[in-house]
Amino acid sequence: MLFCCLFAAHRDGCIKAVGPVDAIRRQFSETSFEKIIDCSGKCVLPGLVDAHTHPVWAGDRVHEFAMKLAGASYMDIHQAGGGIHFTVEHTQKTSEEELFNTFKHRLLRMIRAGTTLVECKSGYGLNLETELKMLRVIERAKRSLDISISSTYCGAHSVPKGKNVTEATDDIINNHLPKLKELDLSGEIHVNNIDVFCEKGVFDLNSTRRILQAGKDIGLQINFHGDELHPMKAAELGAELGAQAISHLEEISDEGIAAMAKAKCAAVLLPTTAYMLRLKQPQARKMLQEGVIVALGSDFNPNAYCFSMPMVMHLACVNMKMSMNEALAAATINAAYALGRSHTHGSIETGKQGDFIVVNSSRWEHLIYQFGGHQELIEYVIVKGKVV
Ligand code: NIG
Ligand code: FE
Repeated sequence: MLFCCLFAAHRDGCIKAVGPVDAIRRQFSETSFEKIIDCSGKCVLPGLVDAHTHPVWAGDRVHEFAMKLAGASYMDIHQAGGGIHFTVEHTQKTSEEELFNTFKHRLLRMIRAGTTLVECKSGYGLNLETELKMLRVIERAKRSLDISISSTYCGAHSVPKGKNVTEATDDIINNHLPKLKELDLSGEIHVNNIDVFCEKGVFDLNSTRRILQAGKDIGLQINFHGDELHPMKAAELGAELGAQAISHLEEISDEGIAAMAKAKCAAVLLPTTAYMLRLKQPQARKMLQEGVIVALGSDFNPNAYCFSMPMVMHLACVNMKMSMNEALAAATINAAYALGRSHTHGSIETGKQGDFIVVNSSRWEHLIYQFGGHQELIEYVIVKGKVV
């Protein structure tokens, strides 16, 4: 049966109806259609949702890729002052305009790979000045580009050089978060989520708890990095604090899985990072069986240089043993849920935002089956009813 969606880009960009072509044509006059796209023999899917990225930075780390291939671990490099610290040094020195321009270019590459809603973190500033510079860059993109953005304050991405964990935690709680609240009230920057890198040698469980709770107290959704390289009981903490989502989770405990399922806290799995760092794969099958809401993200950052959610779905299927249906749900409706946006994004339903991709194949599964070259397979990306 042929189905068709009608959307009104110049009104609110939302889907007006979904149904067979004939029924749609009876319901709406020809003049309701600004543009008609014939999708015969093709597949229409919801726009892809990328639930975890670090896309604002300067200073790539291709030299560290070579070090990792030669055997260095992520934490070896971090503790030697590289990794996040390297990117922080470069990001602090780079102008807001230059950061915006590279960020914009990255977002355009994400759109071409089918992403229509993306989570974007700060976290390469660490000091208040640079964290705000990154958040202003994200805010500017939110207001000016054809992609929806959920923004995340991630000032607790690493402990800045010259500070200990307690000093860094106090600085965030006493100085950064009150400033974010002030900027929200004045309408200058609106942040959606709060993040912490909860990891051995970075932010411990107690500091993580303090920061996340303080973020929640100013109205931010909790969405943080946990249980990646070491078991930290981050999943249990997130469930207790009412986190919307926790990312990574390669080292989650059985109790953590049960707690996340019960709390309806989404697990954002990041197959690019597990692949790049040759980590243990997250237990996607077990999480799905236990009823955890499993979402996917590209984790685009200088360590995992991947813009493509089709590639992420491919890795999730091959390395994490997800089915193609599970991967698509994880990269659409469940990723929207992880960002608190499943009422407006992530599926093709009347009233939701008109975000679609048109796949030039009669089998949508080609989006996952083919790895690489997705720009040719994705014929149209449509955001708020407009071809972008
Ligand atoms: O999600 N694990 C912490 N944060 C990022 C990596 C950031 C970086 O290495 O620059 C991640 O993989
Ligand atoms: Fe990350």
